[in-house]
Amino acid sequence: MREATPRTIRREDYTPPPYFVEHADLGFELGDPVTRVEARLTLRRNPALPPGPLVLDGQELGLKRVAVDGRELAPHEYTLTEDHLDLGILPERCTVETSVEIRPGENTSLEGLYLSSGNFCTQCEAEGFRKITFYPDRPDVMARFSTTLSADPARYPVLLSNGNPVARGELPDGRHFVTWEDPFPKPCYLFALVAGNLVSLEDTFTTAGGREVKLEIWVEPRNAEKCGHAMHSLKQAMAWDERVFGREYDLDIYMIVAVDDFNMGAMENKGLNVFNSKYVLAQPETATDEDYEGIEAVIAHEYFHNWSGNRVTCRDWFQLSLKEGFTVFRDQQFTADMTSRAVKRIKDVNLLRTFQFREDGGPLAHPVRPDAYQEINNFYTLTVYEKGAEVVRMLHTLLGPEGFRRGTDRYFERFDGQAVTCDDFVQALEEATGRDLSRFRRWYSQAGTPVLGVSGHHDPRARTYTLTVTQHTPPTPGQPDKLPLHIPFALGLVGPDGVDLPLRLAGEAEAVAGTRVLELTEAEHAFVFEAIGTTPVPSLLRGYSAPVRLRYDYSDAELAFLMAHDTDEFNRWDAGQRLAERVITRLMADYRDGRPLRLDEGLLAAYRKLLEDPGADRRLLAQALMLPSEAYLAEQSDAIDPEAIHNAREFLRHALAQELRPILLESYHAHRDPDYRVSPEAIGRRRLKNVCLGYLMALHDETIQALCMTQYREADNMTDAMAALAALAQVDIPGRIEALAHFHGRWRDDPLVMDKWLALQATSSLPGTLEEVKRLTRHPAFNLRNPNKVRALIGAFASGNPVRFHDPSGAGYLFLADRVLELDPLNPQVAARLLTPLTQWRRYEPGRRALMAGELKRVLATPQLSKDVYEIASKALG
Ligand code: ARG
Ligand code: ZN
Repeated sequence: MREATPRTIRREDYTPPPYFVEHADLGFELGDPVTRVEARLTLRRNPALPPGPLVLDGQELGLKRVAVDGRELAPHEYTLTEDHLDLGILPERCTVETSVEIRPGENTSLEGLYLSSGNFCTQCEAEGFRKITFYPDRPDVMARFSTTLSADPARYPVLLSNGNPVARGELPDGRHFVTWEDPFPKPCYLFALVAGNLVSLEDTFTTAGGREVKLEIWVEPRNAEKCGHAMHSLKQAMAWDERVFGREYDLDIYMIVAVDDFNMGAMENKGLNVFNSKYVLAQPETATDEDYEGIEAVIAHEYFHNWSGNRVTCRDWFQLSLKEGFTVFRDQQFTADMTSRAVKRIKDVNLLRTFQFREDGGPLAHPVRPDAYQEINNFYTLTVYEKGAEVVRMLHTLLGPEGFRRGTDRYFERFDGQAVTCDDFVQALEEATGRDLSRFRRWYSQAGTPVLGVSGHHDPRARTYTLTVTQHTPPTPGQPDKLPLHIPFALGLVGPDGVDLPLRLAGEAEAVAGTRVLELTEAEHAFVFEAIGTTPVPSLLRGYSAPVRLRYDYSDAELAFLMAHDTDEFNRWDAGQRLAERVITRLMADYRDGRPLRLDEGLLAAYRKLLEDPGADRRLLAQALMLPSEAYLAEQSDAIDPEAIHNAREFLRHALAQELRPILLESYHAHRDPDYRVSPEAIGRRRLKNVCLGYLMALHDETIQALCMTQYREADNMTDAMAALAALAQVDIPGRIEALAHFHGRWRDDPLVMDKWLALQATSSLPGTLEEVKRLTRHPAFNLRNPNKVRALIGAFASGNPVRFHDPSGAGYLFLADRVLELDPLNPQVAARLLTPLTQWRRYEPGRRALMAGELKRVLATPQLSKDVYEIASKALG
């Protein structure tokens, strides 16, 4: 808990560690309520610095003994504070031994050592290791770890830690023990242990170099049958990383453990990943197609960290995107190869443009490589992860696949075993390719979303087409003035027949057909394409080649044309989104001014065309039929009015469904499959069918509702059951209550499925939803101490139900602030995250703006606030 204003940590203040740890020898006597931790650290003073004191980090540790080179210190020989143990200046080489007692059963922060379903597990990133033992808890201190775990064999038969098991046996007191040795030096944030009653699914993988690796997925016995997909995903990821990045696994064993209580998605601890069970467990009856894809992606992400994160790690936490941005890029490429490149890109861009842009334009905007923080856990953000991945993607685009691969090879080779910076990464790419990326580096230091203003002019007489491109980045907190960035700008010019024109810039010898990547480095450029006889429609920023807002004044007809003809699948989809956004924006204005709402004929025709000619990729079609989300539309507005957005969008859904009813029904039936399969085709068919069902349910028609009930009842898989139930949750009919009750009765013992049940109800746009959510906080399926439950109910309500959360009375805000304050003493990390929707208060119309700010102020005025919540609330108001 906080006393005064939390201290700000600054990147510019970085200094190297005064002591290195060569070896960390840990012993755990695991017990609840008390666990004893013995640490023996072999230290070496940093010869590059003048001698200074050894200050170990440590929080909530009951210190029992401390000794240097075997001699126990008396209390006057050291200084112990809330967060530190200062041992003064020590010899150049020495050993420090400590013995501490901790209480994992009381650890509700889920950081450090804690219990989940009665099993011990750890989460040390970013700074959780200091809650386990006294240690220099910083990523640039890399040590070899050996860990001995001992425990009651009846309660904790399985004892796991990083590396390879080297010894096991019984102790005289009846406890058993296992010793693990990790040969690779690592920072303590990659330490992990797990102990408990678990069972494993086992397999093997033979690396390209011929090493046989044991693969184990450990779960609670009740989940034994749900690990197959995770195992399959792991093997795919291992093979892909060899193929695409030339990276092989390096230990004899790779373990994954699934736990129900976890603050984030998963954690890449060396050789022993700990996962939120949501990203491991799946069976067709319990997990949707989306869940399957999420598991594949997160399993791959954590596996890829073994190189991008573990073998080469971060010098300090400001460099977090070095491993996270790069690893997200790697997992995105992997998923694109495993599924559909265009659909994956669409999903990633939707996330970026809806939520990262919001962050980048708000009070918490920060660069991909932040300059300052109070609580590092608050910086595991969409900017560090998703925009960080876009930055790596741009490097990939600028250097080309071969150049990029040469660069990453050099990076891994040169920095293996080291803790490095984002700059080191860029430098390795420069050295391997001879490219100058000095201006590109600004992407790491400059916050905010650049705006590209583009205009085109065709001169039929000169047969030239001139594209003028300007860039500017709006100010963000602490960064009033921005510099131009180095931006890869992919584009094509589409001729009237729908074919890409060959492109030749003035001064070039040959024209190249198709997409071309221009490089923007200045505030303004003019590109003159020659031999352009007819007026083209420009297809700009193809594949979404840079994380920018694109402004080009398309006509509705041009958008409909691109939607039908663009050869770039992403831009075809994007043209449809732009058209729909524009139509909804006009409807919003009509709604506010009390004019009657009318369906736009152009959009109707475009959607009809999509449905009549479904093309090969059903998933792409399903994506194309989905209107921009309310959250995305809010992000495009100036003074957000959630009610106008909701009503305009719902009007459009209803009107489209009314006009397209026969073809939607036909498509619905045509894409129902007699049996459940998991191929990309089958997933695409399910998706399209369920998108059609969603539209049809907007009709509030009893025949359709009966169809939906039938789908729910007859579904043999969670994808179809959830699609039907989600649609039913939005309508006030007896079938809704019946289906929700049935679902609860069937799945009450499966926590992950109950999360879906909570989230469905929390995101219903029916007027009684807030009261329902309040009731559900007292339901046995809810538990404030479990982050998945908090996200499923409260998080989903606040971020996934704009029209109800933003009720003009402010009741939604009051509810959220109350829950944040209730959770903060238990789990500050999750509490701080829960608060984020309120940080957007300045974007709303005046009434809501004041109510949101009022709740933030109330939160900030609360005594004993964690620094996590303090930092978010104070910066949001600042
Ligand atoms: N490194 C993990 C990942 O794979 C995330 C861990 C975040 N933990 C935290 N306490 N902030 O992305
Ligand atoms: Zn990660």
